Amino acid sequence: MEQKLTKLKEEALAALAEVTDSAELEPFRVQYLGRKSGVLTTVMRGLANVAKEDRPRLGALANTVKKEITSLFEQKKQALAAGQTPEDSIVGLDLSLPGRRLPVGKLHPVTQVMEEICSIFEGLGFAVAEGPDVETDHYNFEALNIPKHHPARDMHDTFYISDSILLRTHTSPMQARIMENQEPPLRYIAPGKVYRCDSDITHTPMFVQVEGFLVDRQVSFADLKGVLTSFLHRMFSDDLAVRFRPSFFPFTEPSAEVDIACVICGGKGCRVCKRTGWIEILGSGLIDPEVMKMVGYDPDEYSGFAFGLGVERIAMLKYGINDIRLYYENDLRFLSQF
Ligand code: FA5
Repeated sequence: MEQKLTKLKEEALAALAEVTDSAELEPFRVQYLGRKSGVLTTVMRGLANVAKEDRPRLGALANTVKKEITSLFEQKKQALAAGQTPEDSIVGLDLSLPGRRLPVGKLHPVTQVMEEICSIFEGLGFAVAEGPDVETDHYNFEALNIPKHHPARDMHDTFYISDSILLRTHTSPMQARIMENQEPPLRYIAPGKVYRCDSDITHTPMFVQVEGFLVDRQVSFADLKGVLTSFLHRMFSDDLAVRFRPSFFPFTEPSAEVDIACVICGGKGCRVCKRTGWIEILGSGLIDPEVMKMVGYDPDEYSGFAFGLGVERIAMLKYGINDIRLYYENDLRFLSQF
């Protein structure tokens, strides 16, 4: 009985595949699915003669075969009515269905913001350079006027690989790397990942900075303020409140950190801006004459400014994100919104 049903199904499907015209549908139906003398009905009648214990299983199988043939018959009927050619109506395949869309990936929001930052600075005449994530103690600290045991090393919780090799804690090593190989005038930005042992709602252990510096004759703090204010206005809005706050970096003198009004709370004070209404986004200053001397420049002839900004902080403010760690949890429900 089981074999009979399998054979019957094969025969019926082969016969249905041969049907190319609506006129052939009815003879097919009568032959295979007809209630009085259809082949399937005849086989099903035979159920009465099989052993009682096999009857439920074989009855279910016969019903499944009937459903399959009936369903394919109906599909064929619709396809022929819709004017599809036999080639179009391969049994069981509806070629008129739209294709399945494959999910398409996107750039990470931090990458998108980094690219936007770079393009604004490129518009201001800065060239882009990239350097290594694994850096020497020399470029990360010494060449930036931070000798061993200098207290400023405490500002960066460094991941050391060996005594002299580390994961760079900022992009500032690119100042020394570029200056020692080129003569002024220079105007560069250097984007890239940096690493610090740091984690809370505004800090992650790996984050992205964009370093920028300009060296030429008679560069002043006014140039630094002009370039950074113009950048921030382009990045956010022309009426964004910006403040330069005196600070200290061993490789700049004078130094300033730049804060912008917290866009999460509109400057009223919230968890993200630690109730101050301001959020720090970059460090900056005029390049220290000691750094100039170390790369062989005459500080009496040349001066310059430098800055390093945190891309995630800018992305947080731009998109109104109140916890920086969301960027690195890899939750597609979050990332696909950008
Ligand atoms: C520096 O890293 C200096 N190299 C910047 C600099 C360059 C100063 C050139 C002068 C001249 P600072 O440690 O403040 O500075 O970091 C700069 C920016 O990186 C901060 O303003 C902040 O936006 C961001 N940042 C710092 N630590 C983290 C962190 N753990 N997670 C995310 N962003 C951070």
